[in-house]
Amino acid sequence: MPSESSSWRLGAAPGGLPLLGHALPLRRHPLRFLASLPEYGDLVQVRLGPHRAYLACHPDLVQHVLANPRVFDKGGPFFDKVRPLLGNGLGTSGWDAHRRQRRLMQPAFHRGHIDAYADEMLHEIKALTGLWQPGQVFDVGAAMQALTTRATARTLFSADITEQDVADIQRCLAVLFGGIYRRMTAPLGLWEKLPTPGNRQFRRAQTRLQELIARIVRDCVRTGADQGDLLASLATARHESDDSALTDRELRDQVMTLLVAGTEPTGHAMAWAFHLLGTHPEVETRLHAEIDSVLAGRPASVRELPRLEYTRRVFTEVLRLYPPGWMFTRTTTTEAELAGHRLAPGTTILYSPYALHRNPRLFPLPDTFAPDRWLPHRAKDVPRGAMLPFGAGNRKCIGDHFGTTEAMLAIATISAHWRLRPVSGATVRPRPETTLGTGPLPMVAEPRR
Ligand code: HEM
Repeated sequence: MPSESSSWRLGAAPGGLPLLGHALPLRRHPLRFLASLPEYGDLVQVRLGPHRAYLACHPDLVQHVLANPRVFDKGGPFFDKVRPLLGNGLGTSGWDAHRRQRRLMQPAFHRGHIDAYADEMLHEIKALTGLWQPGQVFDVGAAMQALTTRATARTLFSADITEQDVADIQRCLAVLFGGIYRRMTAPLGLWEKLPTPGNRQFRRAQTRLQELIARIVRDCVRTGADQGDLLASLATARHESDDSALTDRELRDQVMTLLVAGTEPTGHAMAWAFHLLGTHPEVETRLHAEIDSVLAGRPASVRELPRLEYTRRVFTEVLRLYPPGWMFTRTTTTEAELAGHRLAPGTTILYSPYALHRNPRLFPLPDTFAPDRWLPHRAKDVPRGAMLPFGAGNRKCIGDHFGTTEAMLAIATISAHWRLRPVSGATVRPRPETTLGTGPLPMVAEPRR
């Protein structure tokens, strides 16, 4: 960070209404609004109703916030709405509890483990594509969501669940994803208490999922059987200093967290990948050529992934253009300073991977889909901290390798056999909700051979 506080540009978002502040543009056109803010400063004040919040726009400021989690802890008005749903799991716990949980959970996400989960992922990818018919039009967004939900459920629970359980998890999560975002953005928190059909459906889905998770965790802890799945790794994990384990309650919260945090972002990223490939034939042709040459007719596997260099650049560029996690909040736990500006305890700080990734000062032609910007000799010019699809610091995504492996396997397996064509006349608009989705994405499945 520049040591001279005077070198930072402090700014304020333009416009804003007396009571609502910037709540309207943030609700109606959040991506456009956020991406416009770096123009006004390195740290930009935004008003969310009566609250003041600050968007860290300069990558060094974002890094500073993420590298100092004791001062800039998880929190903020959006986030407080999610906590009751996810419990005190890894994504929602405060600094102290998080440190212990992360130590206990990290080993289950080591590369060796993830590679072992790849069989479940491949099984689900093949089951999905096995249903496709040549010329069939289907919603790629919904298909990718179903795929990641099923693959995550199978990886977490392995043999402990029935096909009916997987279908239930898929149904409940679809309801929860819609409702979580509405709750996060409802200004007063009254709407979700009304007995509307939507709210009743949300509560039923939440209860059903909690019951299902409680049953599976109970069985896993009681039998102590290690089926090699993610839940067993979490249940048997011991803290290195005091040999403590995750309690049953913590295990349930972690499972809920992993189901919510682990399915939607990866599904959205995969849907964006097929949308961008379908609308950029020159990129698609190169990707197909690489996959044909590397796989040479063999099924995709984790062993082959390092050789799919262009495919990885494509996926990285997908995450730059449409980072599923598009905005996050932190809250100051004490009086703090950022960009030379004093912040009172309880101040909300925002960071937006979307605003960083679309900033022309950080990425030339930021709206252009250009996978080769990630060629090693060009990628080294990307400023540190400018590319943050998985966040950074102690709260960096624990599932980054899991999600990347799953997406790479899906892109390689599907593209080896199918070309997904856009449907003419269908418009695709980013949907910034809990994560950044495509909305309905109709595409035509054409066999490649
Ligand atoms: C392409 C896929 C994914 C993307 C882009 C993504 C993105 C992110 C980001 C940006 C964060 C940091 C949030 C913050 O700074 O507040 C995060 C956290 C997290 N992610 Fe992911 N994620 C992906 C896949 C996954 C998967 C597959 C899992 C689990 C199987 C997962 C589980 C989590 C958890 C538990 C956290 C909280 C970590 C902590 O606070 O220690 N994510 N993710």
